Amino acid sequence: MKPRREKTIKIYPQKVKIVEVGPRDGLQNEKEIISTQDKLTFIEKLVQSGLKNIEVTSFVHPKAVPQLADAQDVIKNLKHHNGLTYSALVPNLKGLERAIESGIKRIAIFTAASETFTKKNINMTIDESLNTFAEVTKQAISSGMSVRGYISTCFVCPYEGEIKKEKVLNITKSLLDMGVDEVSLGDTIGAASPKDVFETVGFILNTIPKEKIALHFHDTYGTALANVVSGLELGITTYDASSGGLGGCPYAPGASGNLATEDLIYLLDRMGIESGVDLNKLTEASMFIEKILGRKLPSKQLQRIINKQTSCI
Ligand code: HMG
Ligand code: MG
Repeated sequence: MKPRREKTIKIYPQKVKIVEVGPRDGLQNEKEIISTQDKLTFIEKLVQSGLKNIEVTSFVHPKAVPQLADAQDVIKNLKHHNGLTYSALVPNLKGLERAIESGIKRIAIFTAASETFTKKNINMTIDESLNTFAEVTKQAISSGMSVRGYISTCFVCPYEGEIKKEKVLNITKSLLDMGVDEVSLGDTIGAASPKDVFETVGFILNTIPKEKIALHFHDTYGTALANVVSGLELGITTYDASSGGLGGCPYAPGASGNLATEDLIYLLDRMGIESGVDLNKLTEASMFIEKILGRKLPSKQLQRIINKQTSCI
């Protein structure tokens, strides 16, 4: 059954939750190794902007993503603040062991809706990944952690093309059944349009409560913000984004950066949707990491400020 667009259009949520993934999804794609201290300064600046959920690093194999090999050191040196949740990506039981040792309290597991991508990304079939993550989630919860789940390539796969919405729904159900509290649906290569979001996410919402779903858009073709609006029309209230528009997946050819958090915050501010994030302070965090990386980041807001464009806002 198709959702009824005429009922949802222009009825936007009043408040949304932002999951900042810049220090993980953003930095994992950077070849030049950034110091642990610079990562910590970047994360603290993100915290100062009002972000309450920050994915700070990843416990994947250090050879797969050398940039995040210092995951333990990053987590052990984070400043803790009330109401703030730090999380880290975990690919398997070995990664969970390392995460438990670091003291992190929230992890994110990740599979995909495409067999080829899952194999290339984590060297497992989708079924193998679900078996692995069921055990990871069970052990994480019994160690006092909470668990988020990602599904990559929910709309288009760089190897298999179009992805069926039924497949995304089945994997979402499997992740929720194993104890994951939120499933982030990823447009890993940034190829989706608002129509794809409406069809796939709308279909999933016929079965799954909207509070369980987050959306994670990359911005290869510049459609990420439009996709967010489609998500807002569907009533989704959790969005992943990356400071400066950093990001990409080393195992997804053609994937460019995530939706820039400051471009998302501008849109939300302008629409009167509360996010709790201060746009100016967030832009300072992005300017900091842009300087460390020594190259221009894709965020429109950041470039507007750097180019000193005048504006009434
Ligand atoms: P594998 O080679 O199949 O692992 O890699 P294995 O289980 O066969 O183990 C081989 C060796 O690696 C063993 O060591 C393990 O102990 C060790 P040995 O006995 O030979 O000495 N090992 C580890 N060491 C440290 N940490 C670990 C770990 N696991 C095994 N966690 C694996 C499988 C999953 C580890 C690998 O393929 C991997 O790390 N992949 C990660 C790829 C990645 O990081 N991709 C990007 C993140 S996903 C993403 O960006 C998408 C997302 O943003 C959403 C979206 O945009 O769609 C989330
Ligand atoms: Mg991503």
